[in-house]
Amino acid sequence: MGRLDGRVAFITGGARGQGRAIAARLAADGADIAIADIGRDIDSLEYSLANDADAAETVDRVREHGRRCIALEGDVRDQVAIDRAFGATVDEFGGVDILVSNAGIVDYKPLWEISEEEWSTILDVNLTGSWRAVKAASAHFRERCAGSIVFNSSINGVEGGWNYAHYVSAKHGLVGFMKAVALELGPYGVRSNAVLPTVIDAPINAHPASWNRVAGKPDATPEEWFEATRSWHLLRGRGALPAEAVADTVTWLVSDDARHITGAAIPVDAGHLVLPGGNPAPIPGEGPEHATPDPWPSEGSK
Ligand SMILES: NC(=O)c1ccc[n+]([C@@H]2O[C@H](COP(=O)([O-])OP(=O)(O)OC[C@H]3O[C@@H](n4cnc5c(N)ncnc54)[C@H](O)[C@@H]3O)[C@@H](O)[C@H]2O)c1
Repeated sequence: MGRLDGRVAFITGGARGQGRAIAARLAADGADIAIADIGRDIDSLEYSLANDADAAETVDRVREHGRRCIALEGDVRDQVAIDRAFGATVDEFGGVDILVSNAGIVDYKPLWEISEEEWSTILDVNLTGSWRAVKAASAHFRERCAGSIVFNSSINGVEGGWNYAHYVSAKHGLVGFMKAVALELGPYGVRSNAVLPTVIDAPINAHPASWNRVAGKPDATPEEWFEATRSWHLLRGRGALPAEAVADTVTWLVSDDARHITGAAIPVDAGHLVLPGGNPAPIPGEGPEHATPDPWPSEGSK
């Protein structure tokens, strides 16, 4: 007996990366799975999104555990598409018990270079897309007086980050939204929680803009990226964590083992969030050339 036997999970962005790992891990514990993914690229991004072959690979991974899996088209920017995918899942399996709102995208540039359209796209997928997924599921969950929802936020849901203000804002917003959902659906017996992953070894990071940013140099290699991620973590030796680290936490959160937990934002970060922060701005020679490093020097620094 698996602890999720007889349950059904609907996962947005389930075709690859953490979504795929979550699908496989939930299936290993007995759940049947529906994945909804965009299945095409978004032009403004520097990397590709999942395609049909990725979705087929997730379906295979779930079936290896003897569970059923359907792959559906579902762009979280489109309420009609998400309603349709969720409805198809209810029709196929007879009900849905678990919603994992996982679809997400990222893009890097200083906030003053982000266009109106780029800002809106990141917010639309990462934040508003989660509201749409919950909207698609909420009538079903309220009617059944049951359901468990997990949002994939980020450590950037509670801390800042350079050069992706739109992503940081969306992920912070997601933690607030998770709490609002916990309040409004709690009386119906529905739980709402979030995971806050650190840097994860997933396709979202497998492109030069991500390698360079994390390694702190141009033309960085994936190996240099991974080495640089070691400094993110308190637990010794850990670089970017595998997607399975998040999948393990999500599986526990949606299971009855976490039946009393709602409204929680749980770091999956190898201790990243308890590390003391650093501020590179005051370092002489770094930052804008025309800025005075310390416009209000204390007596001691004169
Ligand atoms: N990888 C990390 O370092 C990291 C860290 C913290 C949080 N996250 C978050 O984890 C989640 C999963 O990302 P991942 O790391 O697996 O990256 P990923 O790029 O491998 O997976 C994201 C998935 O979402 C899908 N997707 C993108 N836009 C969509 C849309 N409009 N509608 C439906 N599906 C869409 C993609 O096709 C892809 O399958 C994201 O929300 C991401 O922001 C990632």
